[in-house]
Amino acid sequence: MTTNQQKEPIQSKIDFLNEAFIRNPHPIYAEVREKEPVSRFLLPSGHYAWIVTTYEDVAAVLNDSRFVTSHPVEEGVEQRKLPSHVEIISRNLSNVNASDHRRLRRLVQKAFTPRMVEELRGQIVELTNDLLDQVQAKGEMNLIQDFAFPLPIKVICEMLGVPVEDQDKFSDWSGAIMEGFNNPMLAERSEQALIAFIDYLQQLIAKRRSDLKQDLISDLIRVEEDGDMLSEHELYAMIFVLIIAGHETTVNLIGNGVLSLLEHPEQLEKLKNEPGLIHSAIEEILRYDGPVEVNNVRWATEDVELQGKQIRKGEMVFVALSSANRDGSHFTDPTTFDITRKVNDHLAFGKGIHFCMGAPLARLEGEIAISTLLRRMPALRLQTNRELLDWRHGIIIRGLKEIPLVF
Ligand code: HEM
Repeated sequence: MTTNQQKEPIQSKIDFLNEAFIRNPHPIYAEVREKEPVSRFLLPSGHYAWIVTTYEDVAAVLNDSRFVTSHPVEEGVEQRKLPSHVEIISRNLSNVNASDHRRLRRLVQKAFTPRMVEELRGQIVELTNDLLDQVQAKGEMNLIQDFAFPLPIKVICEMLGVPVEDQDKFSDWSGAIMEGFNNPMLAERSEQALIAFIDYLQQLIAKRRSDLKQDLISDLIRVEEDGDMLSEHELYAMIFVLIIAGHETTVNLIGNGVLSLLEHPEQLEKLKNEPGLIHSAIEEILRYDGPVEVNNVRWATEDVELQGKQIRKGEMVFVALSSANRDGSHFTDPTTFDITRKVNDHLAFGKGIHFCMGAPLARLEGEIAISTLLRRMPALRLQTNRELLDWRHGIIIRGLKEIPLVF
């Protein structure tokens, strides 16, 4: 066993249980990029894993077919038996092997097209205004609960064709399932939500099969290539991954984005004076404090050497997108929040074969949400001291639990 393989505790500065790191991980990432860009860290589960922190290495790992998202099956090792509904949804786009991935992604991309996203524009504007109407007269709101959390799930429901009367249930299930991923104490509630969610999908899909409509569920049922179609279970898993991948991420694009703007009043003024800057502002928000701090795990399928470290076959590798996006060897003035930044090839949506499929939708939602908010509530400000804001725990998503605002 080599030294970097040791199982005994090692002192990594990257510590997802440390409050100071959770509040502001950027100075630590800067130090780690400098001193030990590929290092070991302790997962909240108690296991050690690799973490990769520079732009170049993060991009390289995401483009390297030796690192996969599905756990490599070891010969002779009995597979862990998952409850059937967990097994169904775990075989989704982001978790399957390369050839299944290629097939699923090709099929879903025939339905989930940029044109379909653009057609949602009017509905997103309407949903945004409806949510803001509910708080406008109060002069205050909790940005996350009142706006950023409900908006994306309503958009996904509209896109899929979930009837309005069922959308609150959908939102509750999505919240409960995500909480269970982030906090094992809530796993039981999360599992119940998952069972209810799959039962519901089964009925909704059956209804659509007998009466196809103009929505994404119907399109996913219709989609076909060379005689190949999505099976019933693949449909559940696909809908599940669209909700899970598209909900919390967009919540925190809006949350982190508004916070970054409020913390940089001169940038906020610039955007208010020149609303057309919203496109580059969204890219800068994604780079400066994007919602996905660390990407989904990768597994090494063979021994790989990276920055002088030996990553062994079967080991877990995480890439820190938030760190890559502030790497000074790639970005000029990486710690400056500049909504007019011209060259901004950030990695907030990942890279390679798993590059975010919902990026056009996320961008559109972020643009509409933030520009409408600033137009309707131009005096927007934080109701509390920034230092008192509570950040969410967990390694994947970076975002705040609440953002109290007055306007
Ligand atoms: C700002 C919002 C978002 C961010 C920052 C984000 C980020 C990401 C990242 C980093 C990945 C790559 C994961 C990996 O490499 O393992 C990813 C994948 C994915 N995202 Fe997003 N996402 C966002 C919004 C959305 C939305 C709105 C949807 C759809 C409704 C969506 C659907 C997906 C799907 C289906 C994948 C898996 C793609 C694959 O494995 O081939 N995302 N996202």
